[in-house]
Amino acid sequence: MGGENDQNENKKKRNRNSVESIEKVVTNQQGQQGNGNPSKKKKKSQEVFPFGNYRNYYGYRVTHDMDEDPRLKVMKREWFAGKDCLDIGCNSGIMTIHIAKKFGCSSILGIDIDSSRIEDAYWHLRKFDRTENSGKRSKKKFSPRDLSQIVSFQKENFVQTRHLEDNCYDTILCLSVTKWVHLNWGDDGLITLFSKIWQLLTPGGIFVMEPQPWKSYENNRRVSETTAMHYRNIVLRPERFQEILLDKIGFRTVEDLTSSLSGASKGFDRQILAFQK
Ligand SMILES: C[S@@+](CC[C@H](N)C(=O)[O-])C[C@H]1O[C@@H](n2cnc3c(N)ncnc32)[C@H](O)[C@@H]1O
Repeated sequence: MGGENDQNENKKKRNRNSVESIEKVVTNQQGQQGNGNPSKKKKKSQEVFPFGNYRNYYGYRVTHDMDEDPRLKVMKREWFAGKDCLDIGCNSGIMTIHIAKKFGCSSILGIDIDSSRIEDAYWHLRKFDRTENSGKRSKKKFSPRDLSQIVSFQKENFVQTRHLEDNCYDTILCLSVTKWVHLNWGDDGLITLFSKIWQLLTPGGIFVMEPQPWKSYENNRRVSETTAMHYRNIVLRPERFQEILLDKIGFRTVEDLTSSLSGASKGFDRQILAFQK
């Protein structure tokens, strides 16, 4: 009972921190551009997520009638089993943890630009550990120690960080992130994202991408002045990503996994592509 109260209190604290940090980012961005009005107080209901760093993202994405995130059904075991993996824009880490559990990665690192989402991800990892621990008697595949050894999370802005340069990965995931990189760092940011992914992959490695369609950019173009400015100047629309990745970045092949994806909740029926280096 006491534990449950503590958990609720911690959850409230995390949510408060999250709102504060995100609002700070928005205020800073506006301040930097000289047009912000930091004196105007934001109401909680107007919470802005300038990087798609939503709280409770999976509550919308995976509804109660689903047994698992439908995207897991189109992922191939051989991309992950015994492999070192990177999940760019992991949000609260649920997909990262599920991939590790379902396919048995050797390691998987989830990175996100928002430190509050990384805190959420570690919270979920501990929760999964506890569940596994109590299910140990029912012979679950992983012991709790195993999962914590496999999965880790780190706060990084993938576009700008140099911390990952010495690493290499067999599989890199970038699910529902391209729009946010594109809106915040423009065409240059998108090319940086693709080039860095290429550099971090081992030869033969797999890049799994779920790009948001151009029409969805419109909904988020006004989250900050930066996004509004980039929205106006974007030339490389998502329809061209495949061609860019094959002809300019240098991936050898692409596989469209969309046809086998069914059961996605409304607004999340997006294309998923797997590129091989
Ligand atoms: C819409 S969520 C997608 C979450 C997850 N990949 C999925 O599809 O289940 C996008 C995530 O990307 C993160 N993000 C956006 N730009 C980023 C960047 N430059 N570096 C790292 N993470 C970023 C956001 O904070 C957010 O959590």
